[in-house]
Amino acid sequence: MSRKYDVLIIGAGIAGLYAAMQIPKKKSVLVVCKDIPWECNTFYAQGGMVTALNEADIPIHIKDTMVAGAYHNNKNAVEILSRTSLETTADIIERGMEFDKDQEGNILYTKEAAHSIERIVHAGGDATGRYMHYFMMVQNRHQLQKNTLVYDLLIENGRCYGVKATVNYEPTTIYASDVIIASGGIGSLYAYNTNSRTVSADIHGICVEKGIALADMEFMQFHPTVFIDTPYARKLLLTEALRGEGAHIVDDECRRFLFDYDKRGELASRDIVSRGIFDYKRKTGKQAYLDFSMFDEEWFEQRFPNITHTFAAIGYHFPKDKAPISPAFHYANGGISCNTYGAIPGIEGLYVIGEAACTGVHGANRLASNSLLEGVVFAKRAVEHILGKTSKEIKTPVFEKDYGNILHKENDKNYKQKLRQIMWDEIGIIRTTKGLLSAKNLIYDMKNKEIGRLLELRLNTASAIVDAALARTESLGSHYIEDE
Ligand code: SIN
Repeated sequence: MSRKYDVLIIGAGIAGLYAAMQIPKKKSVLVVCKDIPWECNTFYAQGGMVTALNEADIPIHIKDTMVAGAYHNNKNAVEILSRTSLETTADIIERGMEFDKDQEGNILYTKEAAHSIERIVHAGGDATGRYMHYFMMVQNRHQLQKNTLVYDLLIENGRCYGVKATVNYEPTTIYASDVIIASGGIGSLYAYNTNSRTVSADIHGICVEKGIALADMEFMQFHPTVFIDTPYARKLLLTEALRGEGAHIVDDECRRFLFDYDKRGELASRDIVSRGIFDYKRKTGKQAYLDFSMFDEEWFEQRFPNITHTFAAIGYHFPKDKAPISPAFHYANGGISCNTYGAIPGIEGLYVIGEAACTGVHGANRLASNSLLEGVVFAKRAVEHILGKTSKEIKTPVFEKDYGNILHKENDKNYKQKLRQIMWDEIGIIRTTKGLLSAKNLIYDMKNKEIGRLLELRLNTASAIVDAALARTESLGSHYIEDE
């Protein structure tokens, strides 16, 4: 079975949906997602979306982003991000998105680690992603198709013609003049992560196979405050906005130990806080906690309703109880290499936006809450680029090769678990050259086993991460090497 569209968007998180919202109704557009639409990282985003407050805040936001990113950022992309935020935030509000407001109707801004000022808008208290996702689902006028698992990109002679995917488990070919990858990051590769279970780096793996460059893959971001004592793959995030509002990180004796690592304590950038917690627990054998005891109960429940209720269901009564925390994988700073319009160099008709992309905007460590903003800003630009092209007749070749029947093999599940543990142990918060080399060999061994295509794609991405980590022999941002 095959179908043809003007634009195919892979992924229904904020980047994919905002891209769809920018494309006129007269174009034939298909948005696909692997599972149900709300199984995406956007849905689980808590803290908020950054926006420059005004012209005067742009240079300050740029500086905060670059400092957090260890100046490894593409400055042009950061300037675009910050400047464009003025129009994208206004556009979203004008279309009807309700961010949290005070009693006089003024938008409330919060702060998170490494921001100089309060410039983060939020919704539903601590459910920003969920609210924005719902809003964009309602706004989208194009066809959205769930249960669509993309397992190949159709590329020939420097052009992308579409994808092969299973739709409700049936192999299908979807042709499109332009394909936008908005499939998110790589979270499921790690044993402990905050990501949706659908985010498993398949498309990154296809890119590796096709010789499309991934960039900055050594810079994987670990969120400092995650509750990991649950049986599910996705661990429970405790938003950085909690610390922005004044929560503390303490040990068993209520000591705020992060000041041993950085003078900003809990409000140092995410890489520093995660490493501090990881190191302190390893060194002392003590537990780390997030302490909310300074907050009024009623205020807390109103400001963080989602966290209050989720944790009440597992026996924690916030703000009275402290939450045991660990860092966990959260966000891929690197991704599929593209320019600031999301265009993938050397492949006509192929774009990438959101967490899947690497424009270089995040550098070596993303500034908190820049991700939802990145999603909308670069989605807008990719669509502008697509709509600005003069249309030409495209003659589509026949793509015979199909992997539809070999997506899974018998032992894949065990190998997947093994890979997740290797990624966490050896390509995690603190790395050693010895550990990275061992991970490289183990990944290579798995690639040579009887495995299905989807596992092979995960392993391609894992290889790209370990190779990038080995190539960067000095620590920078979220890539930290501790060699004896
Ligand atoms: C959080 O709410 O702490 C996550 C926000 C982000 O990843 O930027």
